[in-house]
Amino acid sequence: MRSNRLESEPGPSRLASPLALEVDGLSVDFSSHEGNKRVVDGVSYAIARGQTLGVVGESGCGKSMTALALLGLVPKQGCVTGRISVSGQGLSEIAIDEWPEIRGKRIAMVFQEPMTALNPAMRIGDQIAEVLHLHEGLSWKEARERAVEELRLVGIPSPAERANAYPHQLSGGMRQRVVIAMALACRPDVLIADEPTTALDVTIQAQILELMQRLQDEIGMAVQFISHNLAVVSEIADDVIVMYAGQIVERASADELFSNPLHPYTQGLIATLPKIENRQDELPVIPGMVPRLDGTLKGCRFAGRCVKADSECHALIPVLRSISPGHDVACHKVRP
Ligand SMILES: Nc1ncnc2c1ncn2[C@@H]1O[C@H](COP(=O)(O)OP(=O)(O)O)[C@@H](O)[C@H]1O
Ligand code: SF4
Ligand SMILES: [Mg+2]
Repeated sequence: MRSNRLESEPGPSRLASPLALEVDGLSVDFSSHEGNKRVVDGVSYAIARGQTLGVVGESGCGKSMTALALLGLVPKQGCVTGRISVSGQGLSEIAIDEWPEIRGKRIAMVFQEPMTALNPAMRIGDQIAEVLHLHEGLSWKEARERAVEELRLVGIPSPAERANAYPHQLSGGMRQRVVIAMALACRPDVLIADEPTTALDVTIQAQILELMQRLQDEIGMAVQFISHNLAVVSEIADDVIVMYAGQIVERASADELFSNPLHPYTQGLIATLPKIENRQDELPVIPGMVPRLDGTLKGCRFAGRCVKADSECHALIPVLRSISPGHDVACHKVRP
């Protein structure tokens, strides 16, 4: 845990909790003529200041929807329930018209595709300056100067000149640096990175990850790092949650999770990681598909794909419980 924040020292309420983010019983439902679909189902976790939580799981497991719920960005047909606190303050205590403030200032997000976050018709320096002008109340001149400093912080060469560039004049890696600069401009308590390097080539991925870790050290923020790439998560996360079909099925420190995975789904995911000594051209995948989430499902959501499934698994829902200190698993066949 590091606390050497660069600017905007936390106020008293922000110092009250060592936890940067607390999520309690978060659910997201979508209703349509086909019925109700619960895509995030009772998810609870916390991230301490300066720590990184990795969130892993196959595509469609609810990783992004969980993140969008934290930012108030779930599509309006979706219904979000549960409690979210940032640095000890519950977001439900905050008026809805303060959401834009919370988003940029206390929780910020970096998406997979940098162009979704950038305005193609605006110079990058102006885009960052706009965030600082709106959220930090800086004059336009001050904001524009700070924008250049922010570009320098994320390793953009010749930042004063580059600030005048339009997004299409930059490479993918440089664009993602700009997005990170924008997200971090107001020194958020929590940064959510949703597959931030997936669209980039491997060398650039490594540079962006290194940059994020350096900035986390400097700014002291908590990071929720969402990725389907377990190798990346094993390198940068302190703790990991594994999501399957909208639920957390396993939670542990990264060291424990990767050395002693207990849930059959986690074991399946880890088995799909290519071993250096056993490189295969095709990665093995877990057979089967994520089930429909329409409420007709009984028992364990993974039962249709699990080699260990028996009648108990098809009848009873497993709850997340502690198997050893700091290691929680939701599986009938894993006992303390
Ligand atoms: N607008 C929507 N309406 C209904 N269901 C949605 C909507 N957007 C996403 N979903 C569903 O939510 C589930 C979780 O999606 P998502 O959070 O994007 O998964 P992940 O990020 O883990 O790949 C998926 O089953 C997806 O089909
Ligand atoms: S509860 Fe049963 S079906 Fe579900 S993961 Fe455990 S063994 Fe497999
Ligand atoms: Mg996603």
